[in-house]
Amino acid sequence: MSTARAIGSPLPRTGFSRTVWYCLIVVLSALVIVPQVWATETGTKDNNKYTGNPDGYVGVGACRDCHSDIVKRYSKTGHPYKIQKVDSGPPSYPANTSPGVPEPPADKSWKDISHVIGGYAWKARFMDKQGYILTGDKNRQYNLPNADLKTEAGWSGYSASAGVRKPYTCGSCHTTGWKASGKDGPHQDGLPGIHGTWFEPGVTCEGCHGPGLAHSNDPEKIAQPFEENCGDCHRRGRVTRIDSNKGLIRHHEQYEDLLASPHRNLKCSACHDPHRSVKYKDGGFKGTKKTCLVCHEKQVVKIHAKDKFECITCHMPRAAKSAVSVKQKFIGGEVPEGDVRAHIFRIKPHPLWNMFSDDGKFVRINDDGHAFLSVEYACLACHTDKDRSWAIEEAGNVHPE
Ligand code: HEC
Ligand code: HEC
Ligand code: HEC
Ligand code: HEC
Ligand code: HEC
Ligand code: HEC
Ligand code: HEC
Ligand code: HEC
Repeated sequence: MSTARAIGSPLPRTGFSRTVWYCLIVVLSALVIVPQVWATETGTKDNNKYTGNPDGYVGVGACRDCHSDIVKRYSKTGHPYKIQKVDSGPPSYPANTSPGVPEPPADKSWKDISHVIGGYAWKARFMDKQGYILTGDKNRQYNLPNADLKTEAGWSGYSASAGVRKPYTCGSCHTTGWKASGKDGPHQDGLPGIHGTWFEPGVTCEGCHGPGLAHSNDPEKIAQPFEENCGDCHRRGRVTRIDSNKGLIRHHEQYEDLLASPHRNLKCSACHDPHRSVKYKDGGFKGTKKTCLVCHEKQVVKIHAKDKFECITCHMPRAAKSAVSVKQKFIGGEVPEGDVRAHIFRIKPHPLWNMFSDDGKFVRINDDGHAFLSVEYACLACHTDKDRSWAIEEAGNVHPE
């Protein structure tokens, strides 16, 4: 049986004086608190389960513990395979994605190669045992076979003008937690050709979401950011101009394209699932019905009846190039077709419209900041038995008034 204590004092009424009680409390709490602080610092407390690097990166292994579904999906995209260390054999890619990089450059064996760059979507480049990128006018870049353009796998040169020792400085877009250095290092794995260090190779969860150690240790209290940063990497130099070469937009300029398009205020994830690939039918483009037609619900396509919902057929032609391109000859001219789709969307069916600047180095952008596809790219790469004036006339009939 317990007897009610007197209200007013939290301390039991015994023979001890108040001072003695206070001393006891201080000593007892010290015994409880000190080990806790100590435990926190040495990482034995539960919410310090994970340890990371000093910048707060923890690694994809931690994310997998709680987000295994997303890790599974993202593991089929190109992002994590952007740069792979190899050990006397070819790099590997997830099943049902890239056909892979079967051989090293002709004059080398896998024993001469430390890392393979890319090889998931378009092409691969190679780094020697010191970490330098192999350069030269042939046999330096492996181009994957391309089903859209019907090209076979093959080799081309890479950066011949850069000399034989091209340092690897590409890490800000290809790795996670990259810290650029210079020829004096520090160097990743001590390889002098790599002018910087990374936390993880490839673009992993934290490559987009930022360091995740704090969130991993206390997800209820510390939210992980998920603002988009696609434009940090899917760009090239100045974002107000779109670089081009030989009649094709250069690759990784989706951000610049979008800024010059009617969709400059859209996020990439309006159309993309950032955790899925657009390659190999993985659903990274959420689809016409879930994107284009949600916003353009009244848009009717009069011709291309069988194909009418594929808005990207005309509005996102392959007007950019990463690895390979082909020439399409139409009546009265020809147009290159590349291996990357443009994100410009607007089409200008006008007899005098040239999509590129006079020197061919940039996409033409008007005073309002808008770029436009010309009918060569939007129509004639397919309609090779027609000419420009046919395309310009028919363009006006695609969508009824
Ligand atoms: C111990 C489990 C755990 C780990 C480890 C973990 N997360 Fe989470 N994460 C969660 C939980 C639980 C939520 C949902 C929180 C909520 O709804 O408030 C969450 C939410 C998120 C969100 C959405 C943000 C939000 O506020 O809803 C992102 C992004 C995220 N995690 C990314 C990551 C990344 C990247 C990693 C690895 C670096 C990671 N998480 C590791 C448990 C974890
Ligand atoms: C290419 C960049 C990118 C990568 C890589 C990436 N994310 Fe995300 N993630 C995003 C963006 C952008 C969003 C917000 C999407 C939106 O708003 O629709 C997001 C949303 C999330 C969310 C909250 C919404 C949801 O889908 O549940 C979680 C959780 C998350 N990411 C976890 C992860 C984890 C874990 C990884 C690694 C396996 C990862 N992400 C890799 C860009 C990325
Ligand atoms: C500003 C960011 C950025 C820099 C810097 C950069 N890249 Fe890339 N790279 C990308 C993006 C984004 C892609 C994929 C999108 C595209 O090509 O349109 C890509 C694609 C590639 C691919 C093809 C990948 C595949 O799976 O087919 C290779 C190879 C490549 N880059 C090599 C390099 C090398 C070598 C360097 C340094 C000399 C470099 N990149 C510097 C952003 C960059
Ligand atoms: C840290 C740099 C970086 C960020 C941030 C980034 N990407 Fe990428 N992205 C790349 C590189 C590099 C490649 C080439 C990877 C490869 O194919 O080998 C690539 C490839 C792609 C591809 C083609 C390959 C595939 O798997 O489908 C798509 C689509 C893509 N990125 C979309 C996005 C979107 C959407 C975002 C933002 C939510 C984003 N990326 C953020 C660097 C980045
Ligand atoms: C989230 C909404 C949204 C989505 C998704 C969207 N659009 Fe748009 N689109 C717009 C808005 C808003 C404009 C008008 C911008 C303006 O008036 O400058 C526009 C304009 C356009 C235009 C140019 C109109 C012109 O003035 O010439 C084209 C073409 C276009 N969209 C095609 C597409 C296609 C193709 C898709 C799917 C791949 C798509 N849009 C997805 C919102 C969207
Ligand atoms: C056969 C090629 C083709 C297809 C397929 C196509 N468009 Fe177009 N679209 C055009 C052309 C060409 C123009 C420019 C017409 C002009 O300026 O006279 C245009 C113009 C537009 C415009 C500007 C406003 C207008 O009506 O002129 C929007 C918005 C648009 N398209 C959205 C879409 C959407 C959404 C889809 C898919 C449902 C789609 N387009 C499918 C060729 C196409
Ligand atoms: C209005 C819709 C829309 C927006 C916004 C959008 N994309 Fe795309 N993107 C697409 C479609 C559609 C494809 C082609 C999918 C296919 O080939 O099946 C694509 C393809 C790509 C590819 C692969 C290129 C290729 O041809 O294989 C990359 C990389 C990419 N997008 C990156 C981005 C980035 C980064 C952003 C934001 C800066 C962005 N996209 C914004 C619709 C969009
Ligand atoms: C990806 C290839 C492709 C592109 C790009 C394309 N078309 Fe077509 N087009 C076809 C095919 C295939 C058919 C026949 C099947 C059908 O009607 O769906 C066709 C049919 C047509 C027809 C009706 C048949 C005819 O020959 O008179 C017209 C008109 C037409 N396209 C105009 C255009 C215009 C204008 C553009 C550019 C704005 C364009 N197409 C872009 C492939 C394409």
